[in-house]
Amino acid sequence: MADVLPTTRHHPFDPPAGLAALGDRDTPHRLRFADGHEGWLVTSYALARAVLADPRFSARSELRHSPVRRPRADDLGPGGRTPPGFFIGMDPPEHTRFRRLLAGEFTVRRMDRLRPRIEAIVGERLDAMAAAGPPVDLVPEFALPVPSLVICELLGVPYADRDRFQRDSAALLRLDVTDEVATAAVRGLREYLRDLVRRLRAEPGEDLLSALAAGDRLTEDELVGIAFLLLVAGHETTANMLALGTFAALGEPDLLAAFRGSAEDVAAAVEELLRYLSIVHFGVSRTAKEDVELAGQRIRAGECVLAWLPAANRDPERFPDPDRPEPARAGAGHLAFGHGVHQCLGQQLARMELRIGFTALFARFPGLRLAVPAEEVPLRHDMGVYGVHRLPVTW
Ligand code: HEM
Repeated sequence: MADVLPTTRHHPFDPPAGLAALGDRDTPHRLRFADGHEGWLVTSYALARAVLADPRFSARSELRHSPVRRPRADDLGPGGRTPPGFFIGMDPPEHTRFRRLLAGEFTVRRMDRLRPRIEAIVGERLDAMAAAGPPVDLVPEFALPVPSLVICELLGVPYADRDRFQRDSAALLRLDVTDEVATAAVRGLREYLRDLVRRLRAEPGEDLLSALAAGDRLTEDELVGIAFLLLVAGHETTANMLALGTFAALGEPDLLAAFRGSAEDVAAAVEELLRYLSIVHFGVSRTAKEDVELAGQRIRAGECVLAWLPAANRDPERFPDPDRPEPARAGAGHLAFGHGVHQCLGQQLARMELRIGFTALFARFPGLRLAVPAEEVPLRHDMGVYGVHRLPVTW
């Protein structure tokens, strides 16, 4: 009899309590996915890495199943199609072509050039927050706009278009909208990105999308797919790390002290928060392309395996006393960015945003604290990316 994925949390930062009841970490467990598919679940660090590094498992969206039912925006995600350029849902060698092109543009130099812009964006949002409160909801004031504006920089979205861009991309992340509204937001953004690609082809800027659009290496559809992937992969994740990370740090003096310490302390605290919070909390899944023997179980071709990142990142064999956030451990080899050929392309950018964001937030508001009891902070149990819907804070 297959289990369904436990999703109810008894503590805002820990994986669902049902994880312990699944028993032995050293073997795959049967798991029933939301559409009834009977696949597998792996919860240990070693098995999660083994699945994600194994080319016999496919990342193609069409072959995947979702462990939980979610509102659908257009036909993206597990079971949906893979649009041109949306390489997170492709396998090598198709995936390799895009990944190489992108890696060549996601350079240290381009990231360094973004640093002063990120510092300026963070500073402007903190000014707006100071003017609006206290109290304020940190999510719309800080956590959502910072990554959205950074993606605008990366993609070369002109200033005049940024309000519309931010509004549509925020609509993508909301739960209280119908499938139709979410689909309309996806289509609106895709149309916008198509216009942008055309404009940047005619008048290139310094941004990453202009660089990719130069020449005829990529079709217009592929460029739109890449831009859209960067937006969906980089916005919700970073936003939830900022908001949930703030919530966690406000209750953990060691984390707060690290965020007020040296650049190394801040980097270590960010790494440990990535491990501890593992916000990609229903991820990530792969589908066997052929029969695979895994820790004594036969995974049959076509069966989907969930490499459950929140469980793997709390594996006591890899991380002693895993339920304690300890900045000194610096996350050491966590899987919050995945593993293998699809390991997060934007991880250096995400780290930069989180380091700059947390440092500036806690420096600007030394007395920052929750404006409601911790139990009243609404949690995103049911969203693809875990976090908080709102974070009322005061200072
Ligand atoms: C804290 C923030 C972030 C987290 C936790 C995160 C997490 C992840 C994870 C777990 C994967 C692997 C998915 C899989 O194996 O199926 C991934 C892939 C990816 N991420 Fe991130 N991400 C973050 C921020 C970003 C940012 C800022 C960007 C870019 C602007 C980005 C772009 C991507 C892309 C393009 C992929 C697909 C890579 C590929 O398929 O080769 N991510 N991310």
